[in-house]
Amino acid sequence: MITASLLKKYNQPIPRYTSYPTVPNWKEKISTEDWAACFSKQFTVNNSKEGISLYIHLPFCESLCTYCGCNKKITTNHSVEENYMDALVKEWELYLQLMPEKPVIRELHLGGGTPTFFSPENLQKLLETILGQAVIHPDHQFSFEAHPNNTTHAHLLTLYNLGFRRLSLGVQDNDPVVQFTINRIQPFKNVVEVTEWAREIGYTSVNFDLIYGLPKQTPESMERTLTQCIELKPDRVAFYSYAHVPWTSRGQRLFDENDLPPAEMKMQLYRLGKFIFSANGYNDIGMDHFALRNDELFKARQEGRLHRNFMGYTTQATALLLGLGVSSISDAGNGYAQNNKTIGEYYQSINAGKLDITKGYFLSDEDLSFKRYILDISCKGATRFNAKDLDSLRLFSFPQLEGLAEDGLISWDESALTVTPLGHHFIRNICAAFDLYLLKNKTAIQLPTYSKAI
Ligand SMILES: C[S@@+](CC[C@H](N)C(=O)[O-])C[C@H]1O[C@@H](n2cnc3c(N)ncnc32)[C@H](O)[C@@H]1O
Ligand code: SF4
Repeated sequence: MITASLLKKYNQPIPRYTSYPTVPNWKEKISTEDWAACFSKQFTVNNSKEGISLYIHLPFCESLCTYCGCNKKITTNHSVEENYMDALVKEWELYLQLMPEKPVIRELHLGGGTPTFFSPENLQKLLETILGQAVIHPDHQFSFEAHPNNTTHAHLLTLYNLGFRRLSLGVQDNDPVVQFTINRIQPFKNVVEVTEWAREIGYTSVNFDLIYGLPKQTPESMERTLTQCIELKPDRVAFYSYAHVPWTSRGQRLFDENDLPPAEMKMQLYRLGKFIFSANGYNDIGMDHFALRNDELFKARQEGRLHRNFMGYTTQATALLLGLGVSSISDAGNGYAQNNKTIGEYYQSINAGKLDITKGYFLSDEDLSFKRYILDISCKGATRFNAKDLDSLRLFSFPQLEGLAEDGLISWDESALTVTPLGHHFIRNICAAFDLYLLKNKTAIQLPTYSKAI
């Protein structure tokens, strides 16, 4: 049983493991040439076999939601769309030069910011240009993040016609007091309307993003939000812990910290959410995600096909993810690279005909092993250890596993580990037992780099 004392014990600042090593352990600057070589090599190995994944970051939003931790640029001036699309196409062309054959697109995700800030016509123009120079894999999966306040029927139809079948609707919270405090006035009828349109058009998976721990949330307001949402039967729910990182997301300084639910209440909100989801047929996929039994994510989890990358959980396991746009991250399996975080720097590099790479990391053999352990645990709930890693495992990971096993979260021996049904609710903590960077520098855990697990 998930007891309050277990939640309290495991509620520590821990990464979400969308990469390993995690971003704070990357090099501040990597060489663009080294990244280009790493990218090309992985492309050559994987493109014809399984295709590649593409992430496009569309950073603009019309107004600032003060809780937001994403890389965004607030503007109501829509003339910014043209310049940004030009830069994205130039960046794509720079990458095409590194590809000896046409890319096969298996997975495409539009994230932000707010992708639906762009007009349907502009999204169509952008995507036709990019996809026009690629082959679309027959088993592709295209998805986008949709803001309920500005996603129109035309957006949904245009993207559907381009092959999109899944959207993530940013619901966050329905309570008017919470919405006022986070500067996101979003009538629930907008959520209902977009959900209904999407289903009428033929989208097969509607995901809702919800957050617990927002200012002014109470168990009563949370219960109302969740009950309203569940009536619409989203196929998946991402139930995120509000990440309070005002040192990087300055908007979070715009509300009173005293309005944040205290730690005990935040845990109560989390338990309430878990209870409501499981009582309504939603299965815990791990790391904040819940899905109905007929959703692809649940089926992939059951069949051991789940994968995790910067886009979160995915059912298409490609070994190469290319991120285009400001702040985007690419993952070549054995190397990561991130673009600059400001639009000015991004334009400067791209318009000078150069990739915009700044931070990144090339993985050692040991990194690759421990990355696999973390991916196995978060996607399959089990992993097997390599004999060559035993020295590091004995020194750093196994002592952590003893405590996790005592609490009933895992069963393990020196050859393998299995997550128990209870442990499933603490996946982030179990992964952390294989994060050598965190374990070698235990003091880092005290620093406010990561948000808390709950
Ligand atoms: C880029 S936003 C979604 C798209 C669109 N801009 C919107 O707001 O609907 C991606 C998701 O990140 C989540 N998110 C943003 N800031 C967060 C924070 N500080 N803590 C937890 N989740 C956060 C929200 O649930 C949000 O829907
Ligand atoms: S939550 Fe979405 S709309 Fe709000 S500021 Fe962040 S990215 Fe923009």
